[in-house]
Amino acid sequence: MSIVAENIVKEYKRRGKSFIAVDNASFTVPKGRIVAVTGRSGSGKSTLLNILAGMIEPEKGSVNVDDINIFGVKASKRDKLRAGKIGIIPQNQSLISGLTIYDNIRLQSIFLSQRPFLPNSSFSGMVSVLGIDDLLSMYPANLSGGEMKRVAIARTLTGNFDYIFADEPTGELDKLNSEKVMALFRKEASAGKGVLVITHDDLVSQSADIIYTMEDGRLKRKK
Ligand SMILES: Nc1ncnc2c1ncn2[C@@H]1O[C@H](COP(=O)(O)OP(=O)(O)OP(=O)(O)O)[C@@H](O)[C@H]1O
Ligand SMILES: [Mg+2]
Repeated sequence: MSIVAENIVKEYKRRGKSFIAVDNASFTVPKGRIVAVTGRSGSGKSTLLNILAGMIEPEKGSVNVDDINIFGVKASKRDKLRAGKIGIIPQNQSLISGLTIYDNIRLQSIFLSQRPFLPNSSFSGMVSVLGIDDLLSMYPANLSGGEMKRVAIARTLTGNFDYIFADEPTGELDKLNSEKVMALFRKEASAGKGVLVITHDDLVSQSADIIYTMEDGRLKRKK
């Protein structure tokens, strides 16, 4: 089982002029593997992630999630499929300001009620590895950028998704915390999950099983 994108083309328009943000990209996220995508700012990495998750529709190409062509089904079915299978750690701040950190983490399981919340012991273990156990009763406004990112990581990892898509998960983290996050991702991959990590961090990409780089929308496999 895997997520397979073939010949993806995405065009954007800016001031009336169109340009190609993703240029004929073919890409696979297999279950049980960590796949890294690196590349300069603006090269199209987040656009590619959003297409793989079915959140942006490409002009050309197909995305199959476990053999379902997600742009061949209705948007409502596509959204359901994503909610059931893909946990996303977005590049930007994504916590809800009126909820405590604990409720932010738990929200995913509440909304997607088919998803049981992690047993208390695994939850405590994970939040303590991420160093956010003392923050659970606080609100996002009281946290640093790196702390908020770690909360977003915890929120996704509690969801027991088949695939995890992380957009710059370690962008605001120090080396030790980055290593801890990668160790958690490795644990997910070992449990059979497919992990996609977009990163500028060599330490992160080097610990992936498969590495791609993106240059002006063109994707090349490096490892
Ligand atoms: N909705 C949009 N409309 C027009 N242009 C867009 C849109 N979203 C992104 N772009 C442009 O498309 C290009 C690719 O953007 P994208 O966010 O995919 O880059 P990225 O590789 O993730 O960059 P970064 O490393 O800075 O996050 C950029 O030039 C960006 O300005
Ligand atoms: Mg990006």
